[in-house]
Amino acid sequence: MRVLLTGGAGYIGSHTALALLQAGREVVVLDNLCNSSAESLARVARIAGRAPVFVEGDVRDRDVLGSLFAEHLVDAVLHFAGLKSVGESLAQPLRYHDNNVQGSQVLLEAMAQASVFNFVFSSSATVYGEQAQMPVSEACSVGHAPNPYGRSKLMVEDMLRELPASDPRWRIAILRSFNPAGAHESGLIGEDPNGIPSNLLPYVAQVAIGKLPELAVFGGDYPTTDGTSVRDYIHVLDLAEGHLRALDALQTRTGTHVWNLGTGRGCSVLDMVRAFEAASGRTVPYRIAPRRFGDMATCYADPTKAERELGWRARRGLPDMTRDAWRWQQMNPNGYR
Ligand code: NAD
Ligand code: WQD
Repeated sequence: MRVLLTGGAGYIGSHTALALLQAGREVVVLDNLCNSSAESLARVARIAGRAPVFVEGDVRDRDVLGSLFAEHLVDAVLHFAGLKSVGESLAQPLRYHDNNVQGSQVLLEAMAQASVFNFVFSSSATVYGEQAQMPVSEACSVGHAPNPYGRSKLMVEDMLRELPASDPRWRIAILRSFNPAGAHESGLIGEDPNGIPSNLLPYVAQVAIGKLPELAVFGGDYPTTDGTSVRDYIHVLDLAEGHLRALDALQTRTGTHVWNLGTGRGCSVLDMVRAFEAASGRTVPYRIAPRRFGDMATCYADPTKAERELGWRARRGLPDMTRDAWRWQQMNPNGYR
């Protein structure tokens, strides 16, 4: 089986490219490198012992897609390409809609033209917005995504729910990933944020190594066990495996299916700080700061549908995520640069 990974040079994409190569699949990556480096793919090749085919290009470019599908006989597409910063999406909503929504539409059109109908979409827990009940299951209502990034994901999800009625050959998985964390255990590939990280774990890692002075914990008065906000952090290798299982599941399913990829366990900011200190042997200085605009108190997954239908569950815990993130940080203090 030959799989096209859009955004395959990025954080989740590179770990999934590796998992696919290790599972014996052929991999073609399309990435415009707007938030990544081709070095990630060189490292993937080093670990796997063989390289993915790399096409540098934009998912919105019809000509690039046309020649890619003509040249490589692709069986399925995993779509990771997109912009993912909530804050940036508030400042530049049109750029987010253009890249994430328009990009997906152009890709789906090119797929239909090439008669490729197996599609796995990297969606996000962001689409759930604020929910009264935890954990969140796929049956929870969506439609109140609190920012343009989340709404761009919802618009693509809507498009994907409509497609099978137009052509029954579509087989579509929508994967709602919770908070990805960690790195490959080799320390060769990992998360490489631009500038100062906005996500918790890379920020904590840079404090631990001394690049940043302290962590600002956004909010100490949430209605949680220790007052800090709670999320469902999932090891990026578990996420990669979830994508492979979804791909397999589409062999026997038509239509559009939604699965949460989370652990089902909530972890507070201070739980994460303590786990990181244990994994690294370093102290992570922190101070309690005001809440961050748009944050919610608690969000964690009900992952039972994926377990039941995909035979997948997250196998790694907080000690694995923090140990692997720390190894990656130590081995690559400046990321791929
Ligand atoms: P990332 O930025 O590391 O990877 C995205 C990749 O897509 C990058 O390599 C980037 O260069 C590429 N890209 C962006 N726009 C493109 C375009 N128009 N054409 C071609 N390539 C393009 O991000 P990630 O964390 O690996 O996220 C991958 C996907 O998973 C995204 O769609 C994101 O929305 C989703 N997701 C991420 C998270 C998270 O917190 N990291 C959580 C849930 C879902
Ligand atoms: C986690 C927790 C912060 C940084 C975002 C996107 C979401 C998804 C994953 C793509 C929160 C706290 C953080 C810091 C802190 N991405 N925090 N100090 O906000 O849950 O989700 O990334 O789909 O769409 O919204 O993740 O890592 O930013 O924050 O106290 O310096 O850590 O308040 O509770 P978040 P995060």
